[in-house]
Amino acid sequence: MKPAGPRPTVAIVAGARPNFMKVAPVLRAVAARDYGFDLILVHTGQHYSPELSDVFFQQLGIRVPDVHLEAGSGTHGTQTARVLEAFESWLLAASPRPAAVVVLGDINSTIAATLAAKKLGLGVIHLESGLPSFDRGMPEEINRLATDAISDLLLVSEPAGEINLRKEGVPPERVAYVGNVMIDTLAHHVEDVRQTPGQTPPPSPYALVTLHRPSNVDGREELGAVVDFLLKLGHRLNVAFPVHPRTQKNLDAFGFTARLAESGNIRLLPPQGYLENLSLMLNAAVVITDSGGIQEEKAWLGVPCLTVRENTERPVTMSLGTNTLVGRDFEMAGQLVTDILDGAYKTGSRIPGWDGHVAERTAEAIAGFLAKQA
Ligand code: UD1
Repeated sequence: MKPAGPRPTVAIVAGARPNFMKVAPVLRAVAARDYGFDLILVHTGQHYSPELSDVFFQQLGIRVPDVHLEAGSGTHGTQTARVLEAFESWLLAASPRPAAVVVLGDINSTIAATLAAKKLGLGVIHLESGLPSFDRGMPEEINRLATDAISDLLLVSEPAGEINLRKEGVPPERVAYVGNVMIDTLAHHVEDVRQTPGQTPPPSPYALVTLHRPSNVDGREELGAVVDFLLKLGHRLNVAFPVHPRTQKNLDAFGFTARLAESGNIRLLPPQGYLENLSLMLNAAVVITDSGGIQEEKAWLGVPCLTVRENTERPVTMSLGTNTLVGRDFEMAGQLVTDILDGAYKTGSRIPGWDGHVAERTAEAIAGFLAKQA
């Protein structure tokens, strides 16, 4: 009989806000049941402000990271390089070295950690893979494509993921449909937030607005069109607008902050904690966003969602969910708001595998991967 080796460890790498709600349920699942491996939590430090990082750790009960790489902000090249270098140094020194690395989503930390691990010959498991937007102008698209191309096990969150990876010629044994792990976090907290909203939402009906993509907020003309749309929207319903630091910087630089603040119906808010944001989503008449995760959360909650992008890597949110892509067509967005307020907008239906047990399937998939490697 083969002697039992040391118990394997697996590093799970989180870097920015959209990673934290995905890492939380996986850590919880592995703490609740023995899957035969231990998880080491690595925070790259891509997001470091309390409102983009610490608040998620506190509210979602994520333990203090075992490793903090403190990469911080920078250009894409700088940020990616800092994470790559710091993570590689840590992997080289780690004893025992992790048997595999789990990366999440499509941020700069995702591709950086993947490159560091693969060059050291470690297995990489990509959670939320197979989701191209087919828009290579998006920085996340480059991260997704490159991460999928070199990862060993691709865990898929929605039906399109399997189809895309099949088209790319990825062998089926490298792919597993686990469902959407972020919905585990939503399902875990939604009832508590319904009972105890934690803050007073704006008077109904209101729109919740979140916008931070460079294509919407980095250019004066692009951001100006968004501001004009929001000012018009503010004549029809209240608007809650938690402002991402990137967006805030540009609203200030282009002189738009005062225009928005002066309109009585638009509430400019700092970036919200997970629970506060969920509470705002639950009660909103409509959410207007360019976030990937919010499209998914709205689809699950059944709240209408208008996405200010030309494409989505999450097509199930449109086919089964409540999402419509409006691109930069704010006239169409205004018309859809009318439909929503009139009760004439699609309601959506359940999405397969978005059942609150994705983290357990993820842990099983990691255990299966380790067993094959041994
Ligand atoms: C990153 C992700 C994006 C994700 C978003 C969620 C990439 C390429 N992009 O974009 O996919 O949807 O996170 O927020 O990885 N800043 C702070 N505090 C922080 C971090 C950033 O104030 O803790 C400010 C800095 O001015 C920084 C800017 O926000 O330059 C942008 O941060 P960065 O992490 O580069 O990209 P995001 O726009 O947040």
